[in-house]
Amino acid sequence: MRKKIVEVSTDYKIMIVDDEEGIINSMRVMLTRSGYYCVGVSNPLEAIEILKKENFDMIILDYIMTPIHGDEVVSKIREFNKDIYILLLTGHKDLAPPLETIRVLDIQGYCEKGDRFDQLLLLIESGIKSISQMRTIKRFKDGLNKILQAVPKIYQLQPIGTILEEILEGLMPLVNSKNAFILVDDCNSDMNEIIYKGVGDYNMKVDSMVTMLSPDLMEQIGRARETGEIIQMDHGIILPLLNEINKSSGVIYIESYNFDEGLRLLEIYSTQAALSINNAFLHSLINMKKEELDRTYQELRNRYIDTIEALRLTVDAKDIYTRGHSDRVAYYARKLGEAFGLSENELELLNVGGIFHDIGKIGTADDILFKTDKLDYDEYEEIKKHPLKGAYILSAISMFKDVVPLVKYHHERYDGKGYPEGLKGDEIPFLARILSVADAFDAMMSDRKYRSKLNLEETIEQFRINSGTQFDPKVVDMLLKILDNYELMQMELKETFS
Ligand SMILES: [Fe+2]
Repeated sequence: MRKKIVEVSTDYKIMIVDDEEGIINSMRVMLTRSGYYCVGVSNPLEAIEILKKENFDMIILDYIMTPIHGDEVVSKIREFNKDIYILLLTGHKDLAPPLETIRVLDIQGYCEKGDRFDQLLLLIESGIKSISQMRTIKRFKDGLNKILQAVPKIYQLQPIGTILEEILEGLMPLVNSKNAFILVDDCNSDMNEIIYKGVGDYNMKVDSMVTMLSPDLMEQIGRARETGEIIQMDHGIILPLLNEINKSSGVIYIESYNFDEGLRLLEIYSTQAALSINNAFLHSLINMKKEELDRTYQELRNRYIDTIEALRLTVDAKDIYTRGHSDRVAYYARKLGEAFGLSENELELLNVGGIFHDIGKIGTADDILFKTDKLDYDEYEEIKKHPLKGAYILSAISMFKDVVPLVKYHHERYDGKGYPEGLKGDEIPFLARILSVADAFDAMMSDRKYRSKLNLEETIEQFRINSGTQFDPKVVDMLLKILDNYELMQMELKETFS
């Protein structure tokens, strides 16, 4: 008969402790024949010392021994090792340790020594099974811990390539493999492009990847993506990355032969990986949409500004006396704002407010606008509507909403005698009070159809007289202050608008 060759597995290490060398030897033969790796020790004290330094999965222990008995040995071992699986051998039934001792010392089994080892072999086999299960549980626990550690990293919002690298990095400690890759559809691409990251043998560029992978592997990847199922092959495993509606956004491939019980872990991990990838794409999609929206909004704003600018030029063209007026009002209003130390945003509002403050005059009839004689009551009432008309025009688009109050209230007076609402003092928005001063200053300094312009001294005098009635005194004071640089401002104006 052909002798059966048994491969001894070193996956599980067994120690036999018996003070009789003969027993050790025969048990070693029996266990080795059954494929177990074992070490025999005849001195129980020495066995304890070895166990302190070396890891064994199981110990088969004689009960009656010198210098100490088996139960004493177990008690000493349990002081530093709670996990080792212990089988106690008794010489005779009557000499067995009490059940309580077996429980307290956490001895997993005992059997009588006999000529035949069948019973012991069965005990060892079932012991090895439970050790294997314990290992699985521990690996699972460790694996889950590793997943928990890796997950926050892969959920961080970062470029998709980095996320894929993090996913692979988090994956490798879970599997006994060095070679793996991940490929996902590039959701940001209209060209059905894919994003690829690999480690070990698969660390390559996406173009070489396509030629490097075997047709069989490519086919299986396609199958995993199509069915959404994990595919185990001789050489590795394919994990589909599924989104919330179970549609595959890509796969992870791990080259390895042995997954067994770790499969569930990989499933958990790949679910997390897929979610983090979807998150990243969603985020970039939102960013892209936002950019697109910003762009559209900017275009809309530009178009609207162009339209208004065209309208404003029409007004300026209509009225040669006010030509350039809006630009100068915008300039003075901004200068005043700067002197008050206003924010850039407020300065921009003053600028736009200055440009558009009289935009409502577009709607004023030419015969009133161009009338050289004194306006009658009705005509004046018609002119007084221009701030409100201007406010409506600018209200049409939300981006100008902050400018609306400036345009609407630029003819209000500090004493409440202005229009359109007769607001008083601080009721009038501060920026509108600035605009009012800037508007009046340029008006006084310019020729109008019904009067000639005033010179600087006369204008200053008018502001002094009307400070606190028509104008906010704080703004008048500031105007007088900045007028120290009047010459400089005129030069600046000429440079800007010539
Ligand atoms: Fe006006």
